[in-house]
Amino acid sequence: MANIWSVFSWRHFLVISLAVNVALISKVVYEGESSRGGQTIRQRGGTLILDDVQKEAHFSAGSSSSSTDEEKAIDDGQRVINVYQGDPTMYERLWQQMGDKTSFVIQGGQSMSYFSDVSNLCWFLEPMLAKQIVRLHKLVGNAVTENRHIVVGTGSSQLYQAVLYALSPPDAAEPMSVVSAAPFYSSYPLMTDYLKSGLYKWAGDACSFNKDSPYIELVTSPNNPDGFSRNSTVKGSRGMLVHDFAYYWPQYTPISSPADHDLMLFTLSKSTGHAGTRIGWALVKDQEVARKMVKFMELNTIGVSKESQLRAAKILEVVSDSREDVDYPGKSVFFEFSHRMMAERWRKLRAAVKQSGIFSLPDFPPGLCSFLGRVFTNQPAFAWVKCEGETEDCEAFLRGHNILARGGKHFGDSPKYVRVSMLDRDENFDHLVQRLSLMSSRQS
Ligand SMILES: Cc1ncc(COP(=O)(O)O)c(C=O)c1O
Repeated sequence: MANIWSVFSWRHFLVISLAVNVALISKVVYEGESSRGGQTIRQRGGTLILDDVQKEAHFSAGSSSSSTDEEKAIDDGQRVINVYQGDPTMYERLWQQMGDKTSFVIQGGQSMSYFSDVSNLCWFLEPMLAKQIVRLHKLVGNAVTENRHIVVGTGSSQLYQAVLYALSPPDAAEPMSVVSAAPFYSSYPLMTDYLKSGLYKWAGDACSFNKDSPYIELVTSPNNPDGFSRNSTVKGSRGMLVHDFAYYWPQYTPISSPADHDLMLFTLSKSTGHAGTRIGWALVKDQEVARKMVKFMELNTIGVSKESQLRAAKILEVVSDSREDVDYPGKSVFFEFSHRMMAERWRKLRAAVKQSGIFSLPDFPPGLCSFLGRVFTNQPAFAWVKCEGETEDCEAFLRGHNILARGGKHFGDSPKYVRVSMLDRDENFDHLVQRLSLMSSRQS
């Protein structure tokens, strides 16, 4: 010990002391600044600002930033880590930093009518929401909005039902087949069949669909659960494509070009993380299809909550506005932050998986993101984890280690896979990577 101290001269102490003081002073100077681990977030008028140094260097918006070392409990393996669902609570921290910027008041006499805009085909769509949807797509460059009808829904889940209703002829001899390439979003088969509709029915993996009859193919890109960017699979000529773009946002994937398809679904849940607001929207080219979707919404819920629509509009407005306050010309600081959070989480997960030696993760090709202006690989909202070696049921294996994740069979794939949510709160995610890293082939 004495030797270590003798290595340091008084000059070393002076330099260190100066550095500590400069750091402390600069921390106090910025009002509302919060420093968490390696990350500094300044708040000016409710707006998140990346510190200049961190723009250049190692900005850490990752999970370690939420809890100090003292707060981090040592994982004893007993706590149940639930990463079964894709609840996007990871984003809470970013929005809490926004303070009052997203608050708004609705008075008792406001927004009472069923109708929002009788001149619009989608008469229950709030004009303010429509405006902010178009504005954000233009800013991010992830979807063409010109010559499209916007249909709003209670989450994109309700719009999914509306799409099936609108695309299935009422008088067909047999129900319309609905397919998606495996592994597919596990809710598709359930949402398609739970009402036992005579109009449509789930027909499974698009890769093995070879009937010479009309079908609806769901193209989810990036895909839930495996995170790959996708195109349609079925080669038949009688198909109608529905593009589910829940994850076509810059925190998950490079934005290559504005998507330009007949029917595209988006949701607030995974773009900004406001899943509880329950707002999704469809961009629909064909007027008759849009009209039938609106009819479905009328019969189903007579429109969509105006309070939710106005909240969604406010949130999207703040996301678009936030670009003007920082040195990111043409970009949105929300996507900068969320992108870096996801990058940090994927870095940690890959390190843990490597250390364990018993799991594997997909590798994604790099792509240039026109919005963020840099090259990166997909960093999906879910990790599609494979149990290597002799473990056949990865879900059961993880359950044995008190980790709850959804097994591959729910997604039409092998039970050697599990889907793990990457969107949980920092604390849960930190425990997850810690536990995975300590699991090894000796325990399997
Ligand atoms: C691919 C995909 N589509 C749609 C949804 C549903 O989103 P919403 O919350 O808008 O109903 C999800 C939710 O996880 C999803 O992963």
